[in-house]
Amino acid sequence: MTAPMMSTVAVVGAGVIGRSWALVFARAACNVRVYDFVPEQAKRARAWFEAELDRNRVGGVLTAAQTAAYRERVRWCGTLEDALANAEYVQESGPESFELKESIFAELDQAAGSEAILASSTSAHDIAEITAGLAAARRCIVAHPVNPPHVIPVVEVLPGRETTNEVVERTCAFLAEVGQTPVRLKRYVPGFLLNRMQAALVREAVNLVDSGVADVDAVDAVIRDGLGLRWALLGPFGVAHTNADGGIRSYFARYGEAYRDLMDDLGPTPTFDAALVEHLGRGTEAMLRGVSHAELLRWRDRLVIGIRELKRANPLPVRDGADPGPGAKPD
Ligand SMILES: NC(=O)c1ccc[n+]([C@@H]2O[C@H](COP(=O)([O-])OP(=O)(O)OC[C@H]3O[C@@H](n4cnc5c(N)ncnc54)[C@H](O)[C@@H]3O)[C@@H](O)[C@H]2O)c1
Repeated sequence: MTAPMMSTVAVVGAGVIGRSWALVFARAACNVRVYDFVPEQAKRARAWFEAELDRNRVGGVLTAAQTAAYRERVRWCGTLEDALANAEYVQESGPESFELKESIFAELDQAAGSEAILASSTSAHDIAEITAGLAAARRCIVAHPVNPPHVIPVVEVLPGRETTNEVVERTCAFLAEVGQTPVRLKRYVPGFLLNRMQAALVREAVNLVDSGVADVDAVDAVIRDGLGLRWALLGPFGVAHTNADGGIRSYFARYGEAYRDLMDDLGPTPTFDAALVEHLGRGTEAMLRGVSHAELLRWRDRLVIGIRELKRANPLPVRDGADPGPGAKPD
């Protein structure tokens, strides 16, 4: 495996996301330095990392030599300074609090190398606000993963006002090099792309259960055995294109009005009060019939990896340079 363009990477914050980032970078042959403010949490992350490697070795996904190499590449650091030494890329993965992110970035501004890229896993905040007034602002960027990034490749990339184009380009190139799929946003919007779309769907799913239209299992079945099967291959626009013989224009010409009526009929923002959450919890547990949380995560990860492999082996036969057709407008 060739050395990646940024060979030393620091992961700051080793919770659910940080520990998974460590695996992404180790897998891509980076030297990885992991730091967590809470030593116990760093220990838990390390135990998770070891267990993940062992499971993959026993399951035949990784060889003993690969697991040894991954282990060798990761150093679990007791101080932030140690983690940042020589790091060319930093993946901040601390808690989702604006104040905490602000203080972590202020520390990174002081302690990281003067050319290091400082990327945040934030799901919600504007990096321009987090890094306002910092000398390092031109090197700061959002690189928002999907949980867990070692299984799901999309990373939303969003520069701040001061982030240079070079930093955006290098971040995207590096993320692609380590096996992720960077997706660039043109401007900040709360929730970015993924969580906005997820929120739109979850809002309606909760309303359908809360208002007694269907139970949790029925609502989930419509996604897992219906919409979700297509969505693993194509997004809402690609799917619309396949849903009418004449393609997306014909689809929205025929169904646009029906969509408008439905959209006007969608439910309100749920309260998520205790009774509602309990109702959703009971419905979800009944649906999952005793499977443990750990078993569920392992099953999810194994099948998602299988779907990715299937897609890789069967790429869409796109014709680069083909005429996009009448009405297609360049971005
Ligand atoms: N969990 C998800 O589904 C998900 C998905 C995408 C992005 N994110 C984002 O990733 C980030 C991390 O989320 P998470 O779910 O891993 O959170 P988490 O609470 O599991 O982990 C955060 C970690 O940061 C540590 N920490 C606190 N202060 C610190 C400091 N000053 N320096 C270093 N470490 C510190 C905590 O001890 C903890 O281990 C958040 O910004 C979150 O929004 C989460």
